[in-house]
Amino acid sequence: MSRWSTAMVTGASSGIGAAFARTLAAEGTDLVVVARDAARLDELAVELHDAHGVRVEVLAADLSSPVSRAAVEKRLADADAPVDLLVNNAGFGTAGHFVDLPVAREEQQVQLNVVAVLRLTSVALAGMVARGRGNVVNVASIAAFLPAPDSATYAATKAFVCSFTESLHDELHGTGVCATASVPGFTRTEFQARADWAEQDHVPEFAWLDPLDVARASLDGAAAGRARVVPGAGYKALVGTAQVIPGGPKRWLAATVRRLAR
Ligand SMILES: NC(=O)c1ccc[n+]([C@@H]2O[C@H](COP(=O)([O-])OP(=O)(O)OC[C@H]3O[C@@H](n4cnc5c(N)ncnc54)[C@H](OP(=O)(O)O)[C@@H]3O)[C@@H](O)[C@H]2O)c1
Repeated sequence: MSRWSTAMVTGASSGIGAAFARTLAAEGTDLVVVARDAARLDELAVELHDAHGVRVEVLAADLSSPVSRAAVEKRLADADAPVDLLVNNAGFGTAGHFVDLPVAREEQQVQLNVVAVLRLTSVALAGMVARGRGNVVNVASIAAFLPAPDSATYAATKAFVCSFTESLHDELHGTGVCATASVPGFTRTEFQARADWAEQDHVPEFAWLDPLDVARASLDGAAAGRARVVPGAGYKALVGTAQVIPGGPKRWLAATVRRLAR
């Protein structure tokens, strides 16, 4: 039984975004899938249409570019083909000391992880609030809650996503529209390789989440009207602890999590 009519999923060409698309298609939701790699999106569209009979529109766009993003905003604003679930999932990280990293790539990270999320949420909410229904799921990270040396920009972008989304959740009270922050920990996707994050092989097996579990928990949380979803009991405990302890112990906790990956 489908909970949404049409969902837009950004970053659907791999990882958690593809898992969102597969989960939604399996329950009969039509899709608009967005990423840069048109060939991978086309392949996904054929797979999901053949398996579940859903309509899948492919929108190839670089969401870090305002010009390329404009077509995605236009599609979201189309009142004749309303999107009642937006999943802002596209994102990337970088690894290394901020002072050594090319600043243009850090800025691109802010454009994708922050500005695109803000812009697409703005367009989606305008239509959803007018119609009195809809959901926005913004994918953040546990990095939002811990100091993150070697991922300073990434952690800051995800702190924005969490704070922004949870504030919207409260602002939207009584409108019929809900905003939910999804807060995954280590998840097996292409993320670590794309971030050039050499330590991924040292993360212990128990710490890895499956992207399909992340997608399912996030969608269930959104449908239940929750402000935040942290998939996995261990990560729930980690985020809960990080929020109640002061700076010194929090830095120790963050260093312990980083040591897991060394
Ligand atoms: N994996 C983890 O451990 C983890 C943990 C916490 C949070 N997250 C978050 O989960 C989200 C999904 O990441 P993932 O783990 O699934 O990584 P992934 O496998 O690398 O997927 C990232 C997706 O974002 C798309 N993307 C990247 N740059 C883009 C751009 N400029 N414009 C449009 N799309 C773009 C990629 O597609 P194209 O290359 O085709 O554009 C891809 O579909 C991210 O926001 C990430 O921060 C991941």
